[in-house]
Amino acid sequence: MSPVSRKIVLSGLRPTGRVHLGNYWGAVKNWVDLQADYDCRYFVADLHALTTDYADTSTIREATLEAVTDWLAVGLDPEKSVIFVQSRVPQTAELALVFGMITPLGWLERVPTYKEQIEQLRERDLGTFGFLGYPVLMTADIALYRAHYVPVGKDQESHLEICREIVRRFNGFYGDVFPEPQALYTATPKVPGLDGRKMSKTYNNAIALSDSAPEVEKKVMSMVTDPGRARRADPGNPDVCNLYPFHVLYSPPEEQKQVDFECRTAARGCVDCKKHLIRNMNAALEPIRQKRAEITAKPGFVKDVLEAGNERARNIASETMEKVSAAMGLL
Ligand code: TRP
Repeated sequence: MSPVSRKIVLSGLRPTGRVHLGNYWGAVKNWVDLQADYDCRYFVADLHALTTDYADTSTIREATLEAVTDWLAVGLDPEKSVIFVQSRVPQTAELALVFGMITPLGWLERVPTYKEQIEQLRERDLGTFGFLGYPVLMTADIALYRAHYVPVGKDQESHLEICREIVRRFNGFYGDVFPEPQALYTATPKVPGLDGRKMSKTYNNAIALSDSAPEVEKKVMSMVTDPGRARRADPGNPDVCNLYPFHVLYSPPEEQKQVDFECRTAARGCVDCKKHLIRNMNAALEPIRQKRAEITAKPGFVKDVLEAGNERARNIASETMEKVSAAMGLL
């Protein structure tokens, strides 16, 4: 049991299937590290996936299981953290309904990502109640587990701000039930995709944590390096090379210095540099692949972990709903 004085951390990710290096360095690694100092609750936000992908739900179940398999493979520990699925905790919907009662429409319409996303995903009809209510549902996630800290990326900043406002409004009307959640930003390293854009499943430019050694090799060999370095004899510039950020993540500091120096002086070519990186990356990814293979070799293991996590989450959630009903004067 963790000491009661520990603060509560909560975070979720939409189910996007196998975790790629961008997800890992941007979020999941941090989740693993936070387990040392906080009581952590991590979940698959499958209801949030429905806000945009409601018309085709065929991939959600598989994507949920794949993601959790990777979370466990990199060190999320069900003994330390509550790991669960959002939709398996019905109190989420209950609290979202309550928060919906007190959330002015103007707050939701003003969230910058709201109009942006509607524009970007024009082929889908996002003029729905559910999509507008995205931050209300997110507030329910956070408040249900009485989280103090929410590790999120900068893209979630405006959502978290509105969560704080909704919680404040609730506490103002009915008394102090919920802590005001704080964003926990951590420095996240740069992880470009194979083509230099942000690594993303949608761009098809990602390296998955669970890619095999030959897949990693093939992908790294296809990466774009310094576009200004046309010939082997030309000096290169690591600052504009897509490969170099990966050396920063996977090569020890003295090797990084060597890479930097030998690139700028044309002492090494990009092919050798890629081979060097592939060695280091595969060495780091191998234990994760092994852990993943151990997990997938046990049929039902991930589902069992989630069942137990869902149960724990529901217990916390029903305690919270007792407090909510009492504070609001509901019977
Ligand atoms: N909106 C988050 C994302 O897209 C996922 C999410 C849902 C979340 N509920 C949350 C994150 C609560 C933190 C806390 O990544």
